[in-house]
Amino acid sequence: MSADSLISLNEEIRACRKCPLGSTRANAVPGEGNKSARVMFVGEAPGATEDTQGVPFCGKAGGVLDDLLAVSGLKRTDVFIANILKCRPPGNRNPNQDEIVTCTPYLDRQIDIIRPSVLCCLGNFACGYLLRKFGLAAKVQGITKIHGNIFIADAAYGKVKIIPLFHPAVVTYDQTKLPILKKDFLQLKYVPKD
Ligand code: URA
Repeated sequence: MSADSLISLNEEIRACRKCPLGSTRANAVPGEGNKSARVMFVGEAPGATEDTQGVPFCGKAGGVLDDLLAVSGLKRTDVFIANILKCRPPGNRNPNQDEIVTCTPYLDRQIDIIRPSVLCCLGNFACGYLLRKFGLAAKVQGITKIHGNIFIADAAYGKVKIIPLFHPAVVTYDQTKLPILKKDFLQLKYVPKD
């Protein structure tokens, strides 16, 4: 049992001023879901709707994610959903390296508390961060090349399967990615339990 708790961690994140995004956000978005989730999803950063509501993936990309979760037979209440950055970068620009370095200790603590056996990386930022974190830097490639692969790594709490996936937002501007995402999410149904 971790000494850290999601409740106190969420409070810390909501009060965070460690980087300039703390003064441009409306709300920090710690993440939400099942605190004993087997499967954890990690996106990039909150968008405008998430910033307003303080909830991850509750805008357009969230609608796509909900449909894809249904394909994999998972409900939001089964999984935990978090992001690399907990605050919205203005104009939805990409996270910068300083922000990633400052913010990802929160994600690391979430992972240590939840201890997921499957970590799904939504998009390049999550994929790059998580593969490097778990000693798999050599496997980092663009999401187009490695989506749907399963990488096995050693976490402090045991084995973890890291699965890169396209970010659901891609479907909002490129519908041809939807069948690819559906195929990868369907695969989540059959990821072995051990
Ligand atoms: N995109 C993300 O990466 N995360 C969210 O929470 C919403 C959109």
